Amino acid sequence: MAKKKFAKDSVTIMTEMVLPNDTNTLNNLMGGRLMHWMDIVAAIAAQKHSNRIVVTASADSISFKQPINLGNVVTLKAQVTRAFNSSMEVFIEVTAEDIPASKKIMTHRAFFTFVAVDQNGRPIEIPEVVPESEEEKELFDGALRRRQLRLVLAKRMKPEDAKELKSIFNLEGPAT
Ligand SMILES: CC(C)(COP(=O)(O)OP(=O)(O)OC[C@H]1O[C@@H](n2cnc3c(N)ncnc32)[C@H](O)[C@@H]1OP(=O)(O)O)[C@@H](O)C(=O)NCCC(=O)NCCS
Repeated sequence: MAKKKFAKDSVTIMTEMVLPNDTNTLNNLMGGRLMHWMDIVAAIAAQKHSNRIVVTASADSISFKQPINLGNVVTLKAQVTRAFNSSMEVFIEVTAEDIPASKKIMTHRAFFTFVAVDQNGRPIEIPEVVPESEEEKELFDGALRRRQLRLVLAKRMKPEDAKELKSIFNLEGPAT
């Protein structure tokens, strides 16, 4: 198995049209349907990176600022930002397009975490991510702090061990 893979090799793009069965009573896309699509596109990106079966471990807070309307075309782009041991962070960007009106808006950004597992569901090691573009490098650098924050919130890491996270809040105390 490759020890390192380029971030761009995991890019996955999925396009859906919002149909009546996808909407709430205001004719807007239901949040749960969008999260389902996000989970799928992100899982495919994680599979491309790891060449393994993957399971969703967490989805960071998703806010719904803007409704997506019936008939809009929704494009979801996912890419692995960084891999750790068995887990990898996936960045998802969502845009909604009203094609007849020639309007396109960026509606959501989210980070999901997937874990690569073997046939028995046990976590298994995955290749490192090699970021190339400026955006990929920025996402790669931030991934460590985001991982620490989600592991602290999930009570899987002690706050005092989240060194990189603490450094952005300047919580180490004044230098002596
Ligand atoms: C995700 C899962 C495989 C982790 O198993 P585990 O026995 O806790 O394994 P570990 O403690 O060794 O953790 C494995 C990795 O998962 C990561 N992880 C576990 N819980 C996490 C969470 N809440 N958020 C982010 N990462 C998490 C760990 O940090 C670790 O990452 P690393 O290997 O890169 O260091 C296991 O909890 C599971 O199978 N969950 C159900 C997954 C599922 O069914 N998803 C669909 C939801 S319906």
